[in-house]
Amino acid sequence: MIRNVSSLDVKKISHLHYTELKGEFLPSLGRNFLEKLYKGLIKEKGTFILALEEKNALKGFLVGSFDFKQSFKKIIRDNFFNFSKEIVKQVFKNPTLLKNIIETLLYTKKGISGSPSAELVVICIESQSQRQGMGNQLVKELEKIFKNQGVKKYKVSVNSVKSPANLFYKALGFKKNKQISIYGKRFNILIKNL
Ligand SMILES: CC(C)(COP(=O)(O)OP(=O)(O)OC[C@H]1O[C@@H](n2cnc3c(N)ncnc32)[C@H](O)[C@@H]1OP(=O)(O)O)[C@@H](O)C(=O)NCCC(=O)NCCS
Repeated sequence: MIRNVSSLDVKKISHLHYTELKGEFLPSLGRNFLEKLYKGLIKEKGTFILALEEKNALKGFLVGSFDFKQSFKKIIRDNFFNFSKEIVKQVFKNPTLLKNIIETLLYTKKGISGSPSAELVVICIESQSQRQGMGNQLVKELEKIFKNQGVKKYKVSVNSVKSPANLFYKALGFKKNKQISIYGKRFNILIKNL
């Protein structure tokens, strides 16, 4: 069953994001940061979070957005002090994070030129449940929502060395649009026409 997430799911989805995307930028800001971010995202109009549940257990989730750049800016603005506290803690532990934070703020400001604003922001399926078609089901649901709102194409960014995720998006019909460098890594910007 696919449903919208509620505040009761925040701990679980933050945990999934933290474990399944370890090594990426947002998990490097810590579990508390992720929880605060998801609490903000749940309330954010224009961004939505879908959960896939089986036998009353949440197996995976997807964040979709009509314009994540705007949502992200608003969440940062509304929760500035809360986020700053977490960020300062993490930067104190690992000062090299500061460079990534500045890069993120710059990217959020200018966006990725020439790409659609609609976006699949994050998708995570718990590791024991991967390769059972759940990711595909979540993406289909996201596309229903986008199509109902007249979206003609949307994007996703994926670390170029994450081969399972790149193969997943390829299997679902995404095409590579460009490559960008951020956090010292290369990311593929993929686009799917609806
Ligand atoms: C990427 C991810 C969301 C895929 O979800 P999933 O539920 O495992 O994927 P599905 O079972 O729906 O796979 C659909 C198709 O994608 C392709 N695919 C998915 N995972 C694959 C893998 N590990 N290797 C090769 N192909 C893969 C296959 O073609 C698959 O169809 P098939 O199983 O019939 O061959 C999941 O692996 C995941 O959560 N990974 C960790 C987090 C992550 O990397 N997220 C993406 C970046 S935001």
